[in-house]
Amino acid sequence: MNQGPVQEAQKLWGGRFSQSTDAFVEAFSASIHYDIRLYRQDIRGSIAHCRMLGRQGIISQQESEAIVAGLEQVRTEIDKGEFETNIALEDIHMHVESRLKTLIGPVAGKLHTARSRNDQVATDIRLYLRDEVETIRTALRKLQNALVDLAEQEVETVMPGFTHMQNAQPISFGHHLMAYFEMLDRDHARFGDINRRINQMPLGSAALAGTPFPVDRHWVAEQLGFDGVCENSLDAVSDRDFVVETAAACALVMTHLSRFSEELILWASPTFNFVDLPDAFCTGSSIMPQKKNPDVPELVRGKTGRVYGHLIALLTLMKGLPLAYNRDMQEDKEPIFDTVDTVSACLRAFGDLVPGIRARRAVMAAAAGEGFTLATDLADYLVRRGLPFREAHAVVGRLVATALDAECGLEDLPLETLQAEEARIEADVSAVLTVHASVNARQSIGGTAFDTVRAAIKRARARLNDADTSKVG
Ligand code: ARG
Repeated sequence: MNQGPVQEAQKLWGGRFSQSTDAFVEAFSASIHYDIRLYRQDIRGSIAHCRMLGRQGIISQQESEAIVAGLEQVRTEIDKGEFETNIALEDIHMHVESRLKTLIGPVAGKLHTARSRNDQVATDIRLYLRDEVETIRTALRKLQNALVDLAEQEVETVMPGFTHMQNAQPISFGHHLMAYFEMLDRDHARFGDINRRINQMPLGSAALAGTPFPVDRHWVAEQLGFDGVCENSLDAVSDRDFVVETAAACALVMTHLSRFSEELILWASPTFNFVDLPDAFCTGSSIMPQKKNPDVPELVRGKTGRVYGHLIALLTLMKGLPLAYNRDMQEDKEPIFDTVDTVSACLRAFGDLVPGIRARRAVMAAAAGEGFTLATDLADYLVRRGLPFREAHAVVGRLVATALDAECGLEDLPLETLQAEEARIEADVSAVLTVHASVNARQSIGGTAFDTVRAAIKRARARLNDADTSKVG
């Protein structure tokens, strides 16, 4: 975009002013350098509004057609990068209108009948966000598909499950991956729900109180693909809760991706050595020749901070504002733009990274039995032989201490040692004390048994293939 003086830069609101705007204030208050991003939405909204003005006889059909043709030309100019911006024209709305006036003359001034920049900008952001939200939902689905595919390959790969970062019980790696699938599935649903609230049209609210002209709001809403019109003009121009909701849902996506990142970083460390990440997603060290650093997950984990920051910025921006519009609200754009950019980029990175994750199955399987991860299975065995769970827990606790002293696993203790602690233990206990038996015993719905995970994957695929009816726009 070129920066340069344009001779039509007289203020569109200059009538009551006798002094020109301070040069610093002009730069301070301009938003064109970032809200130019809304030009397609702005022009689309203006065209629908203008057609409605013509249909309703608020302006003539010819005037309406001339303005629409002019707006289309402005859009083509911006598309081609042949558009000059000027901070004296503040924002995208003024830029489009000013250029329109140069192209078609004073009739351009009729476009803003029955409209204000306040309902205009609120409409622009809604049109913009609903598409961004759909893009994010598509990226979530891509990543979910990658997770299901990987989970299916790794159903029978066993690993230690952790609580407190201490080895807890053996689980299927596929089951672990499907936990992230579920988180992202809720994110996907959350954005669908938010989009229903985004997709209500503010236009027709004008500055704050509505308009005396006989506008047809429902017709405009239909043209623009909105589900309906905002009910209250003050609310329509002055709330940004839909921006905050989107930022909050994005913050949750980042929370999920950041936890996954943290695990990948740990697992890729040679100390764990559970997974190998694709070379294309890692970098080396300029001094240590052996290094392969997991930069992409690290950056995703790091970028979570700025998305949280934007959420707090947006909440704080809105909290003290009296009704209706206040210029403060112009500050909503940079945080939400950066939020959707960041989340989209991180989802893209993960969607491409996940298919390249290689499980080191033997290392994971060896670790699955470490740290007495079969202790619960031994306690459950005793429960099946009539011991109350609390007593069984105490028995196995003592056996763990014995095994620690002997520097072996529970499954390595001689049967006599087990029986000395609890006579109900018999030779068949050996069938219980294996990683595979442990995993496959957990067949409760949502559990980690191989067949249970396979059934969960099947249901997950069915959910992915369900026709998505919540799309808007
Ligand atoms: N650039 C402004 C914004 O983003 C547009 C609305 C300005 N309205 C006004 N009355 N100054 O919020």
